[in-house]
Amino acid sequence: MTPIVSPAIAPVAVTDLVGRTPLLRLQRFLPAGSGVEIYAKAEFMNPGGSVKDRAAAAIIADGERTGRLRPGVTLLDATSGNTGIAYAMIAAARGFKLKLCVPENVTTERKRTLRAFGAELVLTSPMEGSDGAIREARRLYEENPGAYFYADQYSNDANWRAHYDSTALEILTQTDGRLTHFVAGLGTSGTFIGVGRRLREHNPDIRLISVQPDSPLHGVEGLKHMDTAIKPAIYDPLLADEDVGISTERSHDLTRRLAKEEGILAGVSSGAALAACLDLAQRIDEGVIVTVFPDSGTRYLSDRFWEEQAS
Ligand SMILES: Cc1ncc(COP(=O)(O)O)c(C=O)c1O
Repeated sequence: MTPIVSPAIAPVAVTDLVGRTPLLRLQRFLPAGSGVEIYAKAEFMNPGGSVKDRAAAAIIADGERTGRLRPGVTLLDATSGNTGIAYAMIAAARGFKLKLCVPENVTTERKRTLRAFGAELVLTSPMEGSDGAIREARRLYEENPGAYFYADQYSNDANWRAHYDSTALEILTQTDGRLTHFVAGLGTSGTFIGVGRRLREHNPDIRLISVQPDSPLHGVEGLKHMDTAIKPAIYDPLLADEDVGISTERSHDLTRRLAKEEGILAGVSSGAALAACLDLAQRIDEGVIVTVFPDSGTRYLSDRFWEEQAS
């Protein structure tokens, strides 16, 4: 029998929509006739709105496969937002309980989104940032290990493997293997490590560039200043060919420009990644640079930087 609905638009579960994100070509930031091409994975197109859907889906699948996440056990983790939203979306769809340690100063929209999905929040000191949330999650787990599946995205190999198994292969397919440079910000480092390892195996000539905020006190949500933060166990500083520091001001400026000049409303860590791509583009005559835009600007609309001007 001929199917009435084509497979491409057949009904699916929300969790089936994770991954297979478009690759955007950025046109406006390079001079005419440049031999450099810049592309960005539109990770804000994931159903939970960020790149972290991939890691959360893989961590949860691994927890279920190994029996650590089972009926009656609560998933516990520390997250400043996007991973939490990803866990919360999947937990709601799959019907298990979720407890998240979140710094109190994350935006109201974030907290409301998490609660809308039914997550329980443990608010931690804003002064201690994401490290304070990590310490609280560890404390809760040690207090009652039998009650929780402590997902620990910073130490969980399923995090970087999600990108090794999906994001990297998508990038290779979408560029026909032509990419010469991969640029990505470091949070848990799952994206950079997973994609980087796979690309390196595929073609050792591909250059891997990691991006960090250039100071400990920064406003690039999602990224870590590795020298001063609790280092994620999955992070391997030796993988990168280069590691670059980007200021919050430049990240803001390029986030604004992405919206105004490319029509891409992305989050601040996308501006940081773009800054690193543009610095790189100035140093090479030709190349195909691929980066990742982790989330959408809609997550930061209450932030004042949208109205500020570049100095
Ligand atoms: C907005 C944003 N950008 C970048 C990242 C970094 O991704 P990863 O944790 O894979 O290093 C995150 C991670 O939470 C994020 O939320």
